[in-house]
Amino acid sequence: MDQSQTPLFTKLQAHYLRKPISFHVPGHKNGRVFPEKLGSLFSAILNIDVTELRGLDDLHDPEGVIAESQYLAANLYGVNKTYFLVNGSTVGNLASILSVVSQDDIVIVQRDCHKSVLNALKMANARPIFIAPEYDGNVNVCTGVNQEDVIKAIKQYPYAKAVILTNPNYYGITRELKGIIDVAHDHQIPVIVDEAHGAHFILGDPFPKSAVQTGADLVIQSAHKTLPAMTMGSYLHVQGTFINVDRLEFYLRALQSSSPSYPLMASLDLARFYLAQLKSEKIQVRSLVQSLTQFKKRLNGIEGIKVVSPMESYVKEDPLKVMIEPVHSCIKTGYNLQKQLESQQIYSELADPFHVLLVLPLSEQFPFEQSLQKIKKALVEIINTETSFDINQICPFPFQNTTLAISYEEMHLLKKRTVPFEEAIGKVAASPVIPYPPGIPILLEGELITKRHLDYISHLQELGAKIQGGQALSNQQLEVF
Ligand SMILES: Cc1ncc(COP(=O)(O)O)c(C=O)c1O
Repeated sequence: MDQSQTPLFTKLQAHYLRKPISFHVPGHKNGRVFPEKLGSLFSAILNIDVTELRGLDDLHDPEGVIAESQYLAANLYGVNKTYFLVNGSTVGNLASILSVVSQDDIVIVQRDCHKSVLNALKMANARPIFIAPEYDGNVNVCTGVNQEDVIKAIKQYPYAKAVILTNPNYYGITRELKGIIDVAHDHQIPVIVDEAHGAHFILGDPFPKSAVQTGADLVIQSAHKTLPAMTMGSYLHVQGTFINVDRLEFYLRALQSSSPSYPLMASLDLARFYLAQLKSEKIQVRSLVQSLTQFKKRLNGIEGIKVVSPMESYVKEDPLKVMIEPVHSCIKTGYNLQKQLESQQIYSELADPFHVLLVLPLSEQFPFEQSLQKIKKALVEIINTETSFDINQICPFPFQNTTLAISYEEMHLLKKRTVPFEEAIGKVAASPVIPYPPGIPILLEGELITKRHLDYISHLQELGAKIQGGQALSNQQLEVF
């Protein structure tokens, strides 16, 4: 197929060039009706923020340019079908899981999953068996699930309805999935892979393998995270014979807006085009990777920080992600380092107690040199002003295998109350506790609360983490059933 085509974007652009007069929604009428003083930032994009006009197709029943654009994406990724998503990988996870899991079904789930996976399990009233990822204590990061642990679970629960994996994790760390997928398929179990952070993986070595290449049945990718797509733009890929496509499409129609954003969908078309061009230019990919490696090397040379990576050979890292750790006794935590970088207008993806995570661009046209200078400046300032802090005071929190103490069905029927932390131990959590980002709960809704959970939540609070868990949490209280 001709990957240089951009059917949806081209049609949208042609519509704009005809200088159309809008008597349709949205109410801004191609940007004519908009608060004047606020309009300049928006105006270009409002010109193409239209609706399902003749020739522009319909996401929920595609047979024209949207169908063609999705077909090009499916062709590039080598799958049966690709769906454009306008509510992020969040809706991809919801629709995928709901399409294969029903009430009381057992599902095998990687524990460090995004909250959207957990919400889907709750909506389906499933019975999840959570498999803990391994933890690298040298770098203080989860390194994905051990293949043997998942295979053991599949053998223990051969009637499971799905295996749900998250690969890569937020930090760009991946594991080989083929062994798991093959065993799951031998048991007629479909595999769903949340590949939110890996839409670019089909670029090939040194990028890790994509789950579309290892045979996963449903693969969800946030194009907006690493490709040049607008926020909320994602892809859902389906392949193989295990998935009931009618059921999947029902959930996509039910869960997504009936007025999907055209700029957003067109950006998915353009992101696919961008990736296809890059993929076809091996020299360009090599040169890009060299620039990224060079940037990391120089970053590592800046006083006060170091670039860290897990060392195990079975782990493969995404070249677009960089974990930096404060190493100077004057820089306290990842949170502290993140804030200091912001003083020089360097905005990172996330901070955790140990690290700051940077997401690098899929392009060499980026102010790498200027960024290095600013990071250096930010660090010089903090090293000269802050008081000393012992990094060993920070505690890790490796996840453990777990199941829910009560079913989602029971949770709907039980009353909730709020209790102080000390009284919560041994009770069942009625709401999750989620540091955000990365959006992975420390404590699951329906999980038995232990002292270990509470100590870690208090610890994160002391360190200044941003945690979703309501007002109660700030008052050292938890909701329990
Ligand atoms: C692993 C993972 N899955 C899913 C999501 C949700 O993606 P989106 O923001 O595209 O809805 C995220 C968001 O951060 C994520 O990190």
